[in-house]
Amino acid sequence: MNAESKKRKRKNPYIPHKAAAEFKPTEDWTREEAHRRYNESKIAYQSDVIHYEDCIAGMRGIPEESIDTVIADPPFGISFSGREAIYNRDASLVVAGYHEIDEGYEAFTERWMAEIPRILKKTGTAWVFSGWTNLGLVLNAIEQVGLRLINHIIWKYQFGVFTKRKFVTSHYHLLFLAKHGKEYYFNKVEHYPLDVWEINRTYKKGEKKNGTKLPTELVMRCIDFSTRPGDLILDPFMGNGTTAVACKGSYRHFIGFEVNTAMKDIIEFNLDQIELGDLYIPYAQRPDRLVDEARRKFKQKEQE
Ligand SMILES: C[S@@+](CC[C@H](N)C(=O)[O-])C[C@H]1O[C@@H](n2cnc3c(N)ncnc32)[C@H](O)[C@@H]1O
Repeated sequence: MNAESKKRKRKNPYIPHKAAAEFKPTEDWTREEAHRRYNESKIAYQSDVIHYEDCIAGMRGIPEESIDTVIADPPFGISFSGREAIYNRDASLVVAGYHEIDEGYEAFTERWMAEIPRILKKTGTAWVFSGWTNLGLVLNAIEQVGLRLINHIIWKYQFGVFTKRKFVTSHYHLLFLAKHGKEYYFNKVEHYPLDVWEINRTYKKGEKKNGTKLPTELVMRCIDFSTRPGDLILDPFMGNGTTAVACKGSYRHFIGFEVNTAMKDIIEFNLDQIELGDLYIPYAQRPDRLVDEARRKFKQKEQE
């Protein structure tokens, strides 16, 4: 058979832009459906709460296979005061008491990560943030505790600390992990989701926070791809409560830990700023440049 007749025989011949034009998220919910799922979810213990205690001790009290997703942005394990200008330009607005770790970073990482597999549901996943200096230790710990590395995402932000003799760090690592390599839940909400995410750090004039606040948009992206409305998300290192805010805004339940009691007022303030479901937009209603472009081109082709 020559190449030409082989091509004719192909069952699903490649049609440019067709796949993107016909893209639909794996699952999608209207606002009402999302709200209903939130109200109807059955969680056997108190959720939508932050416990001001050490997360390792706290996680030991969580029943097994009860968490859908973990979002963890642990302390850096380098001499970080939480007041650096990189994170908040006005040091006077940064809350004191940022808790660094006293033991070796690898031992600490392994200890808190070892709690994850037991409490995750079979389909559960975890997102772990890491700077590049500790990345090797975090990857070792992932292997030690038996989690599966599904993706290694680069979060690219707009700027870092000015340097004279080396490149300016303007990225962070985000490791997407699963309890089981095959059964994990993944909602493909974009046709072509890349593993480099360009999201700017946000600064609000006069905002009080600890210096390491993640952008809500970044945490929302983790939530979108790995959970359904009504699911339960654990954040062991709550900081400013970004995960709690993103959960409340998107009809997800949360449970969290934070050792620094000075964060309590800030977290409560941040949670009060948002109403339940405020950030929720069904995927079908979100602009997707790639899909819109493909639909336009595909339609054009059909009309030719
Ligand atoms: C990098 S920050 C998290 C920032 C957070 N993602 C946000 O957007 O605000 C890490 C947080 O973990 C807290 N922390 C450190 N060790 C902890 C532990 N063993 N248990 C609970 N929280 C801890 C620190 O006080 C700090 O607030």
